[in-house]
Order: sequence, then C-alpha cells, then structure tokens
Amino acid sequence: MSTGYQGQQKTYRNLTSQRVNQISPSGIRRFFDLIASMEGVISLGVGEPDFATPWHIREAAIYSLEKGYTMYTSNLGMPELRQELSRYLKTNYNLEYDPNGELLITVGVSEALDLATRAILDPGDEVIMPDPCYVAYSPCVAMAGGTPIMVPTSREENFEISPTDIEARVTDKTKAILIGYPANPTGAVMPRDKLSQIAEIARRHQLLVISDEIYAKLVYGVGHTCFATLPDMKESAILLGGFSKAYAMTGWRIGYAAANREIIAAMTRIHQYTIMCAPTMAQVAAIEALKSGEEDAAEMVEDYNRRRLVMVKGLNDIGLPCFEPKGAFYAFPSIKSTGMTSEEFAERLLVEEKVAVVPGSVFGQCGEGYIRCCYATSLAEIEEALSRMKRFVNKHKRV
Ligand SMILES: Cc1ncc(COP(=O)(O)O)c(C=O)c1O
Repeated sequence: MSTGYQGQQKTYRNLTSQRVNQISPSGIRRFFDLIASMEGVISLGVGEPDFATPWHIREAAIYSLEKGYTMYTSNLGMPELRQELSRYLKTNYNLEYDPNGELLITVGVSEALDLATRAILDPGDEVIMPDPCYVAYSPCVAMAGGTPIMVPTSREENFEISPTDIEARVTDKTKAILIGYPANPTGAVMPRDKLSQIAEIARRHQLLVISDEIYAKLVYGVGHTCFATLPDMKESAILLGGFSKAYAMTGWRIGYAAANREIIAAMTRIHQYTIMCAPTMAQVAAIEALKSGEEDAAEMVEDYNRRRLVMVKGLNDIGLPCFEPKGAFYAFPSIKSTGMTSEEFAERLLVEEKVAVVPGSVFGQCGEGYIRCCYATSLAEIEEALSRMKRFVNKHKRV
C-alpha cells in the first residue's frame, strides 16, 4: 500500500501500531455485517433492550436541548448527576462515594473500562478474568499494555469464576482481577460467598478489582452483590456501572466509574484529554433516570424474566441444554450435540433459518460449544426463533 510519503512504499503493518494489530476485530461485529445484508432475520444477537428509553427520560433530554444546555460540562460530569449517583449508590448499596473526586461520568461502561485499565496498568501487568467473558475485557487490557490471564469457567460450575482458580494464577505481575457479574454472555450471577473469597484473595495479594456491574439490576429471583460492598473492598474496587441496559439507554452512551480518589484522578487525566466530558443531553437524561426511572427499570426486568423463562425452556426442549441464567438477558445453551463448532452453527442457522445468535467462541475459548441468545426481544420473536431453531436442530441432529 502506498502512503504517498516521499514516494516511499509502506506496508499496512507499518502504518498502524503493533499493539493494535494484535487485537482481533470483534467477532460480533463481523456477524452483524452479514445480518445487515439479509432480510427477515430474527435477531437474538445484539445485546440491547428492544424497549425505547422511557419517555420521561427522553423528555428531560429534549427539554434540556430546548433550554440550550448544549455546552461542555465538567470533565467529571455534571455536579447534579454526580450528586444523584452518589445518592443512588448510598441508597442501593450503602456505599459512600464523594461526588467530588470519587465518581467519574463516562461515555458508557465501554469508556470506563478503557480508562480503568489504562489508568492502572503498566506494561506487562497481568489482569485475571473469566473465560468466557464480555468481548471488550481482554482487548482493553491488551491495549493498555497489560496481559489478560484467563480463568476457564464451565457450565458444570454455573459459569462462576472459581476463587481457587484465580489464586492459582496470581503472580508477582498480577495487578488486578476483572469480573463482570451478572455476566455477558452466560447470564451467570456470582454468589456472595464466592465474591467474598475473591475479596479475600485481593486483600491478601493487594490486587485491584475492576467490577463491571452494568447488569446489576437485571437479576431474576436472586440478589446482586456489589463487589465494593464487601469488607474493605471499597478502596480496591473500581466499580463500573451504566445506564445502557437497565434503563434501555444504549444509544445515549452514558456510564460511570466509582473508585478511590487516586484512581478516579488518574482516569480523569485520560478522560479530559480524550473525551472531555460525556454528552450533556445524555447526562441530563441520566439524572432523570436516577431520579425517577426505578419503576420503568423494574417493569422491564419483569418482562425480561417472562422472556427468559420461555427462552430457556424452549432451548432445553429442542435439545440445546441450557443452564439457567439468573441475570443479564442472555441464554447460553450448549450446541455440542450437533457436532458443529459454535461459529459453524451460528452461520448455518443464519443462512438456513434466518435466526441470528452469537457464536460462544467470540467470548473466549471456553465459549466454544455454546451460542449466546439474547432474549431482550419480543415474546413473539422468541417463539418464532425457537421454532426455526427446532427445525434446524432436527435437520442436523446426529444419529
Ligand atoms: C458486560 C458489559 N459491559 C459493558 C458493556 C458496554 O456498555 P455501555 O453501553 O455502557 O458502553 C456491555 C455491552 O454490551 C456489556 O455487556
């Protein structure tokens, strides 16, 4: 490829950094490019609510535009939003975060995750995380110069990360543990006693714990333990939370980090030069969500629960054994009985039956043999998707 610089020929690898070249493109995106070119597809693919953001939240943002609130805000986020967030964390978890220095408003949990890894990692630092896990965890750590250390998890263990397995991977290079429960892609929720054991390991080895709790509100019949509430963990936890899933606000791009002052200051240093501040109208919407969005969130969770039950029963009935997800909005059935790889299964299901699911392998090696089915879609679509999947599985059943 010619760059035109002084007539020199440069290869593509010369133009972009080695660090970025090592990151593979998101397996999910590749799949969705394929779907975009097809008609009549039922998507159980993208992990986002099918609801529009509740009207009063949209209205708050519209009014803010009418009033001309179109300027930058403080780098940390609007003071009123940080106050509301501080109140929210106190009410929900009895955690006290100072809105002036311990909270940072970000462009989704995505930015918070990027900032957290870049703020704490030096080259070669290791970060322990579960496999399978959310697609951004490992690339974010690698792009921050760190080394992701994967801990296999399995259906037999309810896709919970084992504290013993974590401890076995701690070395003198380990800087942090990165967890995300309720989990994408498995729907697993970590019981409090296991989280306490992880806290104990973090204490003993002086590790930080990045806890991505974006699905905190989406739990079914079980409680969610916020990692920072565990004894002595507030100082070493970097709590990441957001509005995308609980309030159906994916497109607003708003999230937050709560941590000790030193870490928030370091994250803010990166944020102020790269992002400056989260979008102002999205921050206004987030204030409204925190003030008056609880009922909407609870209603959506009830709805997801109905869909979850239909999805999980349906998958089991058609011969795709599915562990019962207790959180988020994903089912993660095994497709091992078909003899196909998860990528092959997903691709053929899409082409033959026009149902989009995500191959488990995009979430890590331990995701192979599974597919992720997002049930944040209408019951009618879930039922139609299940009937198409049944036909597909019957057709390809191994005898
Ligand atoms: C576990 C997890 N963390 C973070 C994100 C990113 O969320 P946001 O929209 O807040 O950037 C997602 C989105 O799917 C997710 O599943």
